[in-house]
Amino acid sequence: MATPSLKTHRIGIIGCGWILPFHVSALQSLGPRAKIIWLADSNLERAEKSARSIGARAIADYREGLSEVDAVFILLPHHLHHPVTLECLKAGCDVLVEKPIAITLAEADEMTVTAERLGRTLMVAYPHRYRPCMQLFKEAALGGKYGRLFMLDGLMDESLQGYALGWIAKKAFLGGGVFFSSSPHMLDVMLWIAGEVRAASMVGTKAGAEMEGEDTAASVIKFQNGVIGVTRHMWASPKSRIWFTMTAVCEKAHITLTTTPMGDLATEGCSCPWKTRIVAVGKTEEVLLDNDEGLDLLPEVKHFLDCVDTKSKPQTDGHTARKVIELVLNAYQEAESRKANP
Ligand SMILES: NC(=O)c1ccc[n+]([C@@H]2O[C@H](COP(=O)([O-])OP(=O)(O)OC[C@H]3O[C@@H](n4cnc5c(N)ncnc54)[C@H](O)[C@@H]3O)[C@@H](O)[C@H]2O)c1
Repeated sequence: MATPSLKTHRIGIIGCGWILPFHVSALQSLGPRAKIIWLADSNLERAEKSARSIGARAIADYREGLSEVDAVFILLPHHLHHPVTLECLKAGCDVLVEKPIAITLAEADEMTVTAERLGRTLMVAYPHRYRPCMQLFKEAALGGKYGRLFMLDGLMDESLQGYALGWIAKKAFLGGGVFFSSSPHMLDVMLWIAGEVRAASMVGTKAGAEMEGEDTAASVIKFQNGVIGVTRHMWASPKSRIWFTMTAVCEKAHITLTTTPMGDLATEGCSCPWKTRIVAVGKTEEVLLDNDEGLDLLPEVKHFLDCVDTKSKPQTDGHTARKVIELVLNAYQEAESRKANP
């Protein structure tokens, strides 16, 4: 990738909910490279509260601000990703949209085609593959030192019980259950490491979160190169132990990455401290990484701005993000035919 120019990106952010401070923190650490012009939320009070602390303007209707910015971050409920992305692209903005790209494949395709036709950057925010620890994990899994990779086993253990779930509770807004909304954090990493999918199945159940879709899901995936992927995901965990863990099983060692919040992620959000470790266990045990890296969106946000500056294709562009929802929707369909998902 060519060296990016040092222009200041004028950014508007749409949606001032839980994930907002993570994006604001990433943009602020980029210094003069990015300036947040406005924050928009249909709940103006929420936008005002966040805007005040960062010296940006608060607006209720993002349409009013589109002519003042070069790029928008869309941090909205999933059913709004498609219409709002299209509006922003057509207004001449580059777009970073939170995961998943959209609720249907037809919506995802329209977003990708529109961005390409208008020559705008469209990137979907799947943060994990951009984290430095994940790059190290991939290198360890595929680099050959531990032999051939044959299994990837991911676990996300989260507790949303007792939480006011709002739009997340409705399938029409979320797109499904936990497997649609959040297991893709693991699926995106697995597709990035293992490549094209041959077959995928899922099962889901309800374990206590007040929502229409499944709050607990497991899946098994066979990749074309022979690797097996397994995901397990709980949104109704009695206690979140390890937030994100993935093991790459190779011929000579298990390589396990764990990212653990050291506080309460749901309530502390962006200020929650973390511990991340990668350990390779074979004949001996090697600690490959031990640091406080957590859900830091800086690498993801920087990649987006680099792609805008150099007119390069983001790693998680519309085509890549479409593959994730295609896998999920096909697995849902198969599970429904077997009555394996509520
Ligand atoms: N990367 C991650 O780990 C991660 C974590 C959490 C959420 N997310 C994603 O971020 C996105 C937002 O999730 P969240 O948890 O912040 O949700 P949230 O419910 O906390 O916030 C959504 C905000 O959007 C606002 N909103 C709704 N409709 C609007 C409209 N028409 N115009 C303007 N504002 C509107 C709401 O008032 C609310 O403030 C989702 O795509 C979600 O999947 C990603």
